[in-house]
Amino acid sequence: MDVIAIAIDGPAGAGKSTISKLTAQRLNLIYVDTGAMFRAVAYYFILNNIDYEKEENLNKYIDFINIELRYFGSMQRICLNGKDVTMDLRNEEISNATPSVAKNQKIRKKLLDIQRDIASKNNVVMDGRDIGTCVLPDAKLKIFLVASAEERANRRFRQLIRRGKVVDYFEILDNIKKRDEQDMTREIAPLKAAEDAMTVESTHMTVEQVVKFIVTLAKAKFELN
Ligand code: C5P
Repeated sequence: MDVIAIAIDGPAGAGKSTISKLTAQRLNLIYVDTGAMFRAVAYYFILNNIDYEKEENLNKYIDFINIELRYFGSMQRICLNGKDVTMDLRNEEISNATPSVAKNQKIRKKLLDIQRDIASKNNVVMDGRDIGTCVLPDAKLKIFLVASAEERANRRFRQLIRRGKVVDYFEILDNIKKRDEQDMTREIAPLKAAEDAMTVESTHMTVEQVVKFIVTLAKAKFELN
């Protein structure tokens, strides 16, 4: 039997990682969070105080960066040069820096090889921006998950408030729009729906509704129980 690949792409904050994680758990597949890989690369530049806006720095230092994914059941841990940084990657500083490193061809190529290698050996749910168009163009199930920018900012705002953070809704909305713009307009592997992707508009759907929908589609497509 061919390996199973489900590609889930979409803009920032559409709920891709939560939905992909739950889908992977329910179908007993591995969840590959490609955003975390790009974030780990951005984290390297921030940690080492290296200007990631300079193309020459990106081309030079990527050779010193080793990104490794480890799995415990369907859960992904991400290591940067041997250190587990999984819990360090989800903050605004890294979110805002990552599109700058994700534009670089050499960085994308290095991560692409790792992503394809995992997908060739495992049954995966992989989420990102270019999974359906570029990383896994032959994936049999491709979802493009969208929601209005306001709703995505709202979800992020509520999440941060629950964690006790003091945040400004309009700043979050601005950052989300800026990140989408950068991801959609870059030359290499921009954010866009693959021609054969199914667009899921989740503005008025709960996480559970979206997961159920994708799981049902996957079961039919891959003849799973
Ligand atoms: O999905 P997440 O928000 O963690 O992604 C962080 C950033 O990584 C995105 O804004 C984008 O710039 C980059 N990315 C990418 N291609 C992917 C996944 C993420 O360019 N497949």
